[in-house]
Amino acid sequence: MRILGVETSCDETAAAVVVETAEAERPWAIASSVIASQVEIHREWGGVVPELASRQHVRDICGVTERALSDAELSWTDLDAVAVTQGPGLVGSLLVGVAFAKSLALTLRVPLVPVHHLAGHIESLFLHNGALPLPAVVLVVSGGHTCLYLVPTPGEYRLIGRTRDDAAGEAFDKVAKVLGLTYPGGPVVDRMARAGNPRAVGFPVARMTHRDRTRPPTPGYAGRAGMTDFSFSGIKTAVKRHVAGRLAETGADALPEAELADICASFQRAVVDALLDRTFEAARRLGARSVGIAGGVSANSRLREDAATRGDARGLPVFLPTLALSTDNAAMIAAAGLRQLARGVTAAPDLNADAALSL
Ligand code: KG4
Ligand code: ZN
Repeated sequence: MRILGVETSCDETAAAVVVETAEAERPWAIASSVIASQVEIHREWGGVVPELASRQHVRDICGVTERALSDAELSWTDLDAVAVTQGPGLVGSLLVGVAFAKSLALTLRVPLVPVHHLAGHIESLFLHNGALPLPAVVLVVSGGHTCLYLVPTPGEYRLIGRTRDDAAGEAFDKVAKVLGLTYPGGPVVDRMARAGNPRAVGFPVARMTHRDRTRPPTPGYAGRAGMTDFSFSGIKTAVKRHVAGRLAETGADALPEAELADICASFQRAVVDALLDRTFEAARRLGARSVGIAGGVSANSRLREDAATRGDARGLPVFLPTLALSTDNAAMIAAAGLRQLARGVTAAPDLNADAALSL
């Protein structure tokens, strides 16, 4: 089976071919993975501009897919299925990928497989690491999402926690903006933090201690869901206040580089601690046999180091994707497509993009 994955949910136009292997421990292999990033286009605006993103997807999608096929040394007719991100994401961006994948599947007369973007991030762990000991608790942490899932069996995802407000990646991006750093903020804050003192400033992170009574129960999960929720809007405001206070105190236009590094390191420590506290607490409570961390923020160096240290201390294996598979890509969508296909899930030609698709 050779499946083409197509990903256009945000600001990356991506196509990849993933093939099934005969190896039980590593059933999937990446034949090619091509990503056309729009980051230079959006940097000028300090964030993703949806209309610019969808227009650029239209320009790039054909060339990116042709390149994915040529890198895999395949032609169109070698494809056995097409998987596409149906949602969630920016609707105009999603529509480009969905329309493209639908036309392709129809023309080639192969199955079309709808994929949830976060299922793609979760499957990036299986794509890179092979089989994970299950049940696993998986943290999906990106620019648009911060969610905790329990994965009891392959392809089964049970939501056990999520952010009540900002995603962790969004907090990184907003804090970088407050500090006058470039977009996207995550990698820059990560880099700056290396030179800073993580205990220089005590930024607070809200901790949910009881269940949200107004929230509808999570389907299929009867546990104490509210306990594993996240909140990152408070820390963003705290950084903003701290910077404004320091500028007023010093009377300067900008803070010195060393102080910015301390703020980055302190902010990053607070966010990473909040993410890992809840992830490992959920793993303990639910008797998980492994922990996975995926999504753009899983590229964060402190998150990677601290997760490994906590896993070692608890004798719990921790799995992460490669850096290339952490941020948005189509190989993870192709892998999630294979998972869905094995479960018999395909889409009809009237498949539509769904900006708020739930998992
Ligand atoms: O998964 P992704 O590529 O796109 C979404 O689905 O949102 O994640 C992008 C997010 C951005 O917010 C970016 O700042 C963050 O991941 N990010 C990082 C790092 N690299 C990317 N955050 C912290 N540290 C990093 N090294
Ligand atoms: Zn993503």
